[in-house]
Amino acid sequence: MIGSANGTRIGITGLGVNVPDRVVTNEELARHVDTTDEWIVERTGIRERRMASDGEALTDIALPAARAALTDAGVEGKDIDLLICATVTPDMMFPTSSALMADSLGAGEAGAYDLLAGCTGFMYALAQAYGMLASGLSRRALVIGGDVLSSLLDWNDRSTLVIFGDGAGAVVMEPVASGGFLGFELGADGAGGVNLQLPGSGSRKFENPEQMLKMNGREVYKFATRVLVSSAEAVLAECGRTIDEIDVYVPHQANKRIIDHAVGKLGVPYERTVVNVDRFGNTSSGSIPLALADARADGRLRPGALVLMTGMGAGLTWGSALMEWTGTSGFAESASRTRTAETVA
Ligand code: ACO
Repeated sequence: MIGSANGTRIGITGLGVNVPDRVVTNEELARHVDTTDEWIVERTGIRERRMASDGEALTDIALPAARAALTDAGVEGKDIDLLICATVTPDMMFPTSSALMADSLGAGEAGAYDLLAGCTGFMYALAQAYGMLASGLSRRALVIGGDVLSSLLDWNDRSTLVIFGDGAGAVVMEPVASGGFLGFELGADGAGGVNLQLPGSGSRKFENPEQMLKMNGREVYKFATRVLVSSAEAVLAECGRTIDEIDVYVPHQANKRIIDHAVGKLGVPYERTVVNVDRFGNTSSGSIPLALADARADGRLRPGALVLMTGMGAGLTWGSALMEWTGTSGFAESASRTRTAETVA
């Protein structure tokens, strides 16, 4: 699916992020599986990640991010009429985490639903919210992306244990006077779905489900390096823009080597690329908003900046969005910086 935005300007007017307090280093993981800090840093670029503590679920991590995004936009929960939560680790299948969070935020008038698209969930949710807002069905949306993949990890499987982390981010989207989304490209390849799966998690019965995340890392690596490039090139072509015009490149934070490959193939200068996988690992649907928050904190995400985001993950799925950053109100901007500094530093 591909399309350019040719009607109403819809932008991001608030951004908030949150990660659990518990820092898990590579050394700590090396006490559980046969691995080393050197191997993990060399193959993935990850030095540490955050993991939920016992009893901490998705909404515990995502709600502070949602509240920070609302404050950043200078609005309250009651001002939201659409809430989409992209996740593969909701608190439970139902009630949905989006409905629970709408209640906690006082968004009693909002339509709320969870969206599953693996690590690409946040990109799919941005595109859905864009469509609802551009068509006039919604006036202001809250899009949340987050995962607690630590709850699905096999602590005996070194190939998956070392790459994931927990975290969440949220954005407020609404019509804006300048900037906003220029286009999206979304894709899915169910034939490759077997390379990243959670068997026994739904209605299909498995003989021996072993309900922990399974991944064929080499196949997912090949897929990721391919789609990060092809999806970015497709959305740029669709919107009539070139890679040289990109001010901020926000790739999914899966593995530093995958990001390096995409940066090299696309020809984006490294200083325009956001990388925080070293501190957070792969936070799935939380990855893109956490990276956006870092880009704003270091001053790269200024109003008018042309931003390219590409996610990819289970499905297998991928998705890109191209937008001109709108910026937020002065008061809210400083409120969010505080929150960003507290939670992401
Ligand atoms: N520590 C030490 N050795 C390890 C570890 C580890 N943590 N993990 C694997 N190895 C070993 C393997 O067993 C293998 O040993 P062998 O040669 O004796 O069989 C060797 O290291 C090389 O294994 P590869 O799989 O070839 O290693 P690779 O360099 O490909 O790195 C990795 C593995 C990091 C998983 C990489 O393939 C990768 O990043 N793939 C993409 C994963 C990804 O992005 N997943 C998320 C998608 S998003 C979503 O929706 C959740």
